[in-house]
Amino acid sequence: MNFAQLTDTHLMADGQLAYSCVDTATHLCAAIDHLNAFRPRLDFVIISGDLVDLGDAEEYKLFRQKIEQLEMPYYVIPGNHDHRDVMRQAFADHEYLTKDGALQFSIEKEGLRIIGLDTTIPGEHDGHFDANKQAWLREELSAHKEQPTLVFMHHPPFQTGIAHMDEIMLTRANEDFWPVLQGQSQVRHIACGHVHRAIETFKGGIPINVCPSSAHQVTLDLKTVGEATFIMDPPAVRIFVWDGVHLINHLSFIGDYGKPRSFTDGAELFAL
Ligand SMILES: [Fe+2]
Ligand SMILES: [Fe+2]
Repeated sequence: MNFAQLTDTHLMADGQLAYSCVDTATHLCAAIDHLNAFRPRLDFVIISGDLVDLGDAEEYKLFRQKIEQLEMPYYVIPGNHDHRDVMRQAFADHEYLTKDGALQFSIEKEGLRIIGLDTTIPGEHDGHFDANKQAWLREELSAHKEQPTLVFMHHPPFQTGIAHMDEIMLTRANEDFWPVLQGQSQVRHIACGHVHRAIETFKGGIPINVCPSSAHQVTLDLKTVGEATFIMDPPAVRIFVWDGVHLINHLSFIGDYGKPRSFTDGAELFAL
C-alpha cells in the first residue's frame, strides 16, 4: 500500500497571492497533478492541515473544487490557518471526521491504523492538546492496541531549532502529549506539517517527520534569534510505503526536474 502526505497548501480565493507573491492555487494544482501521476497509483492521501490560508468559506469551496480532482480518496485534519467550524461545514460529507469538538479521525487501512489529530485551538497559531484530546487519543490507542499505528498531526511535538516556528509548536508537548504515548509501542511513526520543511527526528522511541509545503517553505535558519522568513525551496509531498510490517517514507519533489535518465547509458554499467 502506497499513500501520500500533502500539507500546508494555504489555498487563497479570488486569485489572491499568499504574502503578496505565492500563488498557492497554482501550487495546489501542481501537487494534485503530481499525486495523480505517481506510479504505482497511490491508495489515498492524508492532508495534514493549513488547507487554506484565511479559513473562510470561499477558500474551502475552492479547495473542494480543486482537491476533488484527486483520483484517490483523501482525509483531512486542520492546521492553525484553518477555521475548525468552517472547515467542518465544508467537509460535512466526510463521514470519518469526528462530529463535534476537535476535528479528527481514526481509520484503518490494510492493518495500519491511521489517526489524524486536531492540534489546533481556535484563534491561536500554536498547537494545543487539551484533556479532551488526550482522552480521545488514549481511547483510540487502547481500543486498537494490537494495530501498528501512524499518527498525523499539524503541529510537531518537538522543537525544530527554527526559532520563530518553535514559538508556535505544540505547546506543553512534554506535559500534554508525550505522556499519552507512553507504553503505546504500536505507534510506529508521527507525521506532521506546519513547519514547511523536510525535518526528521526520533523521540519517545518514535520516528517523526515534518513534510514540506506544496507551496512556500520556511527558511532553514538555525540562528537563535531568527527572522520569520520564507523561501521558494522546491515543494514536495511525502510518499509512504506500508508492506504490512514496515512503514517507509520518501520525499517526492513537485516540479520539473527533467526525465529519469538511465544509469546504463554509456559504455559501462554501474550497479546501484
Ligand atoms: Fe502552514
Ligand atoms: Fe501551520
